[in-house]
Amino acid sequence: MSGDKSYMNKHLWELDQELFKIIQDEKSRQKEGLEMIASENYTSLSVMECLGSCLSNKYSEGLPNARYYGGNEFIDKIETLAQKRSLATFSLDATEWGVNVQPYSGSPANFAVYTGIVEPHGRIMGLDLPDGGHLTHGFYTPQKKVSATAMFFEPLPYKVDPQSGLIDYDQLAQSARLFRPRLIIAGISCYSRVLDYKRFKQIADDCGAYLMADMSHVSGLVAAKVIPSPFDYCDIVTTTTHKTLRGPRSGVIFFRKGVRLVKPTGEKVLYDLENRINAAVFPGLQGGPHNHQIAGIALCMAQAQTEEFKNYQQQVVKNAQALCKKLQEHGYNISAGGTDVHLILVNLKSVGLSGGKAEFILDEVNIACNKNTVPGDASALNPSGIRLGTPALTTRGMKEQDLYKVADFIDSTVKLGLEIQKKSGPKLVDFKKVALEDFKDKIEKLKNEVKEFALRFPLPGHDNY
Ligand SMILES: Cc1ncc(COP(=O)(O)O)c(C=O)c1O
Repeated sequence: MSGDKSYMNKHLWELDQELFKIIQDEKSRQKEGLEMIASENYTSLSVMECLGSCLSNKYSEGLPNARYYGGNEFIDKIETLAQKRSLATFSLDATEWGVNVQPYSGSPANFAVYTGIVEPHGRIMGLDLPDGGHLTHGFYTPQKKVSATAMFFEPLPYKVDPQSGLIDYDQLAQSARLFRPRLIIAGISCYSRVLDYKRFKQIADDCGAYLMADMSHVSGLVAAKVIPSPFDYCDIVTTTTHKTLRGPRSGVIFFRKGVRLVKPTGEKVLYDLENRINAAVFPGLQGGPHNHQIAGIALCMAQAQTEEFKNYQQQVVKNAQALCKKLQEHGYNISAGGTDVHLILVNLKSVGLSGGKAEFILDEVNIACNKNTVPGDASALNPSGIRLGTPALTTRGMKEQDLYKVADFIDSTVKLGLEIQKKSGPKLVDFKKVALEDFKDKIEKLKNEVKEFALRFPLPGHDNY
């Protein structure tokens, strides 16, 4: 650190070279590689400016015009703007829907919903994690309640059909009738087909459950009307704002207001979600809202209403379909037979390389993705697939032809992986060792080709940090 009088008004790069250099290295990594983790994206320069603004300094516990702290005149305006724009982005009427923009991220948003409307140890049903659901949809294993959503609530998962890779709605309907959950969650982290929200709604109505969509992965596609909207059928919708929506790292909860149902007697039953969800977020689970993130939400929701954003989302899907097509031409098996969205799940069982090995070797050549279970996998610890997404590459301006090239890179890398495995045998530790010792030159060559290709596509944000 510099020995000058005060550090308070110096730039990071003047002050802390050690830290700044690491941030710069991360920026170079982002530029030189292909980011294919389906939940990631590059946010805009203007959202970054919100995140690095004076709003980070302010406490504002409570809601607009009802705060526990003074000095919130402008914070109130920002949060109100974020609420208004969030509703407008999804074409929602403020008499029918309310929104809370304070959750710090997607996981706290989901936990707040369960806290607000499901009593302790009340029942929830979500898509099982190995089948494409998320941790926060109640994930547990035979040995362990992994997610806090399984410790404090009682989940029962539903599954995909192991043959088709599609959600088994009949099985869900049957289990829901017996289990009688308070809440059914329609949401995915790894599933390449659109969800049948109408069917989910019928199943929820059948057992008197609330229906919540967690559209974190697909909210950008929903905003651009590229895929069907969950709002037509759901009582609650949660989302992260940093995935396809391309905003700040944060979370949002939408909830219905007004009449929930009319009884045969004509009596109207009203929704009571607003107070319960707002109170669960604060003071139930959180303290002061992150106002810099909320400003970023206000901004990204406005950006999501533009023609540029719509074109971007259409391209995200076209790119995922182009990637899928080319990989299929190379002989790969794509789970669910293709994609309607921003991601594909490649089943590597027939190829004979595990998801873990594929993830490792792709990472070595600057292609970032994640290993993933595929339908029918016996072990979540040794999954047979990789998940590949196109939101980040599309933000860099890539089109279908570029994704064909990316598919070729992936194919060459997987083939190199098979060559390494021939020498190393099946264990991942041996595979890594042999790769780094005996295949250094081949890896370096592929990595340089990927790097040269990646550097042709610009990244939004600050130039070098
Ligand atoms: C469907 C879904 N819900 C919730 C989350 C959690 O979001 P966060 O990581 O912001 O807590 C994720 C994150 O990947 C997700 O995919």
